[in-house]
Amino acid sequence: MSSSFADQRIAVLGASHGIGEAAAAAFAASGADVIIAGRSKERLDAAAERIGRPVTAVETDATDPESVAAFLAVAGQLDHLVIALSSGAVGLGPFAQLAEADLRAAFDGKLFAHLAILRAALPHLRADGSVTFVTAASARAALPGSVGLAAVNGALESAVPPLAAELAPLRVNAVSPGVVDTAWWSGIPEPDRAAFFAGIAATLPVGRIGTPEDVAQAITYLAGNGFTTGTVLDCAGGATLATGR
Ligand SMILES: NC(=O)c1ccc[n+]([C@@H]2O[C@H](COP(=O)([O-])OP(=O)(O)OC[C@H]3O[C@@H](n4cnc5c(N)ncnc54)[C@H](OP(=O)(O)O)[C@@H]3O)[C@@H](O)[C@H]2O)c1
Repeated sequence: MSSSFADQRIAVLGASHGIGEAAAAAFAASGADVIIAGRSKERLDAAAERIGRPVTAVETDATDPESVAAFLAVAGQLDHLVIALSSGAVGLGPFAQLAEADLRAAFDGKLFAHLAILRAALPHLRADGSVTFVTAASARAALPGSVGLAAVNGALESAVPPLAAELAPLRVNAVSPGVVDTAWWSGIPEPDRAAFFAGIAATLPVGRIGTPEDVAQAITYLAGNGFTTGTVLDCAGGATLATGR
């Protein structure tokens, strides 16, 4: 693991499991001073134990501006910010049955939460530091049943280039994962989930679904590469390629 984040302070919101936890672990392993957020101190402490290196855990509801302000007060000055929180599967499902309240909740929990966190964090971020969003390849994959999630993540991906231009020299990027084995899918009970994952894997050029560590590697690249901004980086095993499979 590179040591390029030594002595840098990095906040990861949505880090009590899944992609955010893996990103926090990767940053901590590369020498960063990492502060993690999630809604449950217990789940954060469990993540910190799995990470196995010192991280600061702050119970935070990232959709609540006061809670975000309290998190940022503890975080202080930051070199990099990663927003990996999930609004879960709300907004998933066939368009004809998609309740408008669910669609609005999906936008509130992801698009508006990400933008509000970034705005609140601006005074805390190093001028030429970085912010990385976690969007979703479903924004561009034309999957039936994903209209709500595609709209939310597509909106967030569309915001990346103008944010990068407007907030420069702060770098603004997103990683756009395909299907990744995390608790996000816990609504599908086993063994159906394993069968679902196997079915997805069979459609992908890489022949497998993603791991949180795959996406964490993309996040550390985006945070660490000072010549990359305004980029939405697919980390999806080829899910958005027109392979005809
Ligand atoms: N997994 C996939 O296949 C996949 C694919 C494409 C995109 N993504 C995106 O990747 C991101 C991360 O997803 P994941 O798969 O890592 O999901 P996950 O395993 O469910 O993790 C989500 C994290 O967000 C935290 N969180 C949720 N709501 C929060 C809130 N209001 N305030 C603070 N923390 C909150 C959760 O902790 P607490 O519950 O303890 O608060 C948890 O740490 C999401 O934006 C998701 O849409 C995932």
